[in-house]
Amino acid sequence: MKVLVVGGGGREHALCWSLASSPLLTKLWCAPGNAGIAEVAECVPIGAEDVPALVRFARDNAVDLVVAGPEAPLTLGLADACAAAGLRCFGPSAAAARLEGSKAFAREVCEAAGVPGPRWRRFDDPAAARAYVRAQGAPIVVKADGLAAGKGVVVAATVEEAEAAITDIMERRVHGAAGASVLLEECLVGEEASFFALCDGTHALPLAAAQDHKRVGEGDTGPNTGGMGAYSPPPAFTDALRDEVMARIVRPVLAEMARRGAPFRGVLFVGLMLTADGPRLIEFNVRFGDPECQALMVRLRSDLLAALLAACDGELADFDLRWEPLHSLVVVMAAKGYPGAYAKGSEIRGLDRAAQVPGVQVFHAGTARREDGALIATGGRVLGVTATGATLREARDAAYAAVDAIDWPEGFCRRDIGWRAL
Ligand code: AMP
Ligand code: GLY
Repeated sequence: MKVLVVGGGGREHALCWSLASSPLLTKLWCAPGNAGIAEVAECVPIGAEDVPALVRFARDNAVDLVVAGPEAPLTLGLADACAAAGLRCFGPSAAAARLEGSKAFAREVCEAAGVPGPRWRRFDDPAAARAYVRAQGAPIVVKADGLAAGKGVVVAATVEEAEAAITDIMERRVHGAAGASVLLEECLVGEEASFFALCDGTHALPLAAAQDHKRVGEGDTGPNTGGMGAYSPPPAFTDALRDEVMARIVRPVLAEMARRGAPFRGVLFVGLMLTADGPRLIEFNVRFGDPECQALMVRLRSDLLAALLAACDGELADFDLRWEPLHSLVVVMAAKGYPGAYAKGSEIRGLDRAAQVPGVQVFHAGTARREDGALIATGGRVLGVTATGATLREARDAAYAAVDAIDWPEGFCRRDIGWRAL
């Protein structure tokens, strides 16, 4: 099997690392990849959003499977273009990717499928949205409808904050066209968890759950980021809860999407709030989480490639996956300043020493090789130091031992990943 992975972050490094061990694999490319991915795959200088060039490359090289990492190429129609060219693609069509691309669409599908979620309303008119906020009171959640790089959500503690968010999103258009309409949602309270299910359009296979740390600061303070760390499994996510989420959320949504003529194939990322009244859907994504994917891949014992193929070929009904009976934890190392402005080009040393800590894998996100061979930081999130252990505490201790072996003065990480569970 010749495989092309699309993307160049930590999630894609973890996917490539897992795929590289598949007995089915003969050749692995990644577009555009990064310095860590280059150790397990051949990197191809094509941007992750350049759909025509990706499809051309896949066709010219007789790629058997294209694996989409991020959502952007999917919302741009990568899976549709692959299908038109007779290529297999792991990831949903543009029509099914609307589950992530439009929060209002996702809520409508959920309502039709009877999925438990918050009360919500959609507004195209800022004055009407502000009037609703004043009538409902705070706390209230304000969301840009479209894709806003994970920054389109404001959990407003006061009516004033919510009104300001409506002005920013709808009138100042801080997220561009994504803010043409907003959703106002009831504020849910509880622990959050990210759950992942493989889907083949008809059947769904549960993967595992992880807990992300979205805020940049320790104790979950400061601005939101793409994710500063994760661990799996979250203790609150029991097998009974998994079965409930499959029965009440994943399967009904798959059936509803199929009914609408947009069957969902790929990985469904179910963002949950575990409330006192049971699990409630916060949002869907149509891809693996980053860094949740890193925490999942080091626990997966089965062949990832076989599972992705089964999802593409509608064969998940008879498929089974095995997981290591281990805990995993990822610490993200980011460039100082992230998620605000940060410098690029600083040198990172000591990864060899970090990789020697038992149970550790260092996944790269924003890295490149300088001409002299030195490893340099090229992004905001730069490394995902990932460890497994018999307990979450062991995984955490191994991950931080590896972090401490890394010599990168221009980087930082949170020292408290896993604190809610520990
Ligand atoms: P999202 O981009 O939709 O995942 O939202 C980002 C974050 O906002 C989530 O991880 C939650 O912490 C929070 N959030 C989103 N929707 C709600 C809601 N209805 N109630 C409470 N918190 C929410
Ligand atoms: N870590 C959250 C996400 O991938 O959206």
